[in-house]
Formats: sequence, C-alpha cells, structure tokens
Amino acid sequence: MSTADEQKRASALKALDYVEEGMVVGVGTGSTVKHFIEGLAAMKDRIEGAVSSSEQSTALLKAHGIRVLDLNAAGPLPLYVDGADECDPHNRLIKGGGAALTREKIIAEASERFVCIIDKAKEVDVLGRFPLPVEVIPMARSLVGRKIVAMGGQPVWREGVITDNGNWILDVHHLRIVDPVGLERELNQIPGVVTCGLFARRPADVVISAGEVRKNR
Ligand code: A5P
Repeated sequence: MSTADEQKRASALKALDYVEEGMVVGVGTGSTVKHFIEGLAAMKDRIEGAVSSSEQSTALLKAHGIRVLDLNAAGPLPLYVDGADECDPHNRLIKGGGAALTREKIIAEASERFVCIIDKAKEVDVLGRFPLPVEVIPMARSLVGRKIVAMGGQPVWREGVITDNGNWILDVHHLRIVDPVGLERELNQIPGVVTCGLFARRPADVVISAGEVRKNR
C-alpha cells in the first residue's frame, strides 16, 4: 500500500501525459500540484509557460524556471491541472483547503480540459465530509455565516488566513451535499460570497487517482 504522498506523486506524473508541445498550462495549488510542477520543470523548454492559481504556485513555478503568464494575456487555456480535497463519482469536487479556490475556479472555467490529480483518500460517494471552504469579502463574514446557518451548515472562520485576493475563508461543516450544482449556485448568490469551493457546475473532465485515470467525462 503506497502512502498518500506517493499516490499524489503518481497522479501528478501521469498528468504530464496531457501536456502537449507549446501549451500554456493552467496550474493549481497544493501538495499534489507541487509534484506536478516538479515534473513540468523537466519539460519547461517544450511549453510556452503556465498560468498560476496562487502566489504559492507562482513562486514554485518561477523557482523551477517556468515562465508564468497572466490569464488575461494567455486567453483560453487547453489544460488545467489541479488537486482537490474531495471528489465524487461524477468528478464533482470540493476545493479550497489551501485557500486558493477563487483563482482555481477562474482557471478551471477558462480551460478546455480540467485534469484533477488526487490520492485515494479524496474519493467519496457524497461530498461534504471535508468542510466546504467559502471565500468571503471581510465585511460580509457575519452576514454570510448567518445565511449558511439558516441553510443547515456550521461555518467556522479560518482565522488568520487572508486569501491572495485579500479576503477571508469560512469552512462550512456538517453539509451532506446531495445537490452540489444547486448548493454551488445558492452559495454563490449570497452577497459577499466571492466563490464557494464546490466545483460541480464545472467539474473535472479527467480524474487521476493514485496514478490511475479513474474516469473521463
Ligand atoms: C487549494 O486551495 C486546494 O483547492 C487544493 O487543490 C486542495 O486543497 C488539494 O490539496 P493537496 O493536493 O495538498 O491535497
């Protein structure tokens, strides 16, 4: 039985199969993506560059000599590779454990193919065991928290964490997410919510778990 980190690395290396000559690659955030960036570094001269989803990944990409491009200049991307905190059988995800959910969602939306790289522990039948991250404008924290309580969730402020966009994170516990698309829409409509960590309306196209391509949509 391999460790979680070995499984993450195997998935990250398998995702390199989707990288083609001359591509601008969307790059996510987290410990699984760190392995992907290391792999990408070995082929950096064959790609145009990367669009990064966080300051953390930008620093890593630059440290490996990979050119980082602005999404506005890059335009639509052919490929986005990122990890997840949970993944259901329909490739719908919870993301944001590393607080980078908003930029991640923007890049996922801008990308033709979203390859999600995970270890086995991230696979669930129903999303919601992992507390759902929600990025909020600071002045709306209490308002959004009350709305979430009314919806049956228990929001916990991730105190001390400021996102790359200057906002705060609420982690919502005790949600059993049977309608991820509906909940994503409902949460995103609360004034003050920047985005929630549900990736259901735009799920992953390919999921690689412990190095195995699990399922294509
Ligand atoms: C970052 O905000 C998250 O969405 C990450 O993609 C997620 O937390 C996966 O992280 P690991 O690859 O470190 O498990």
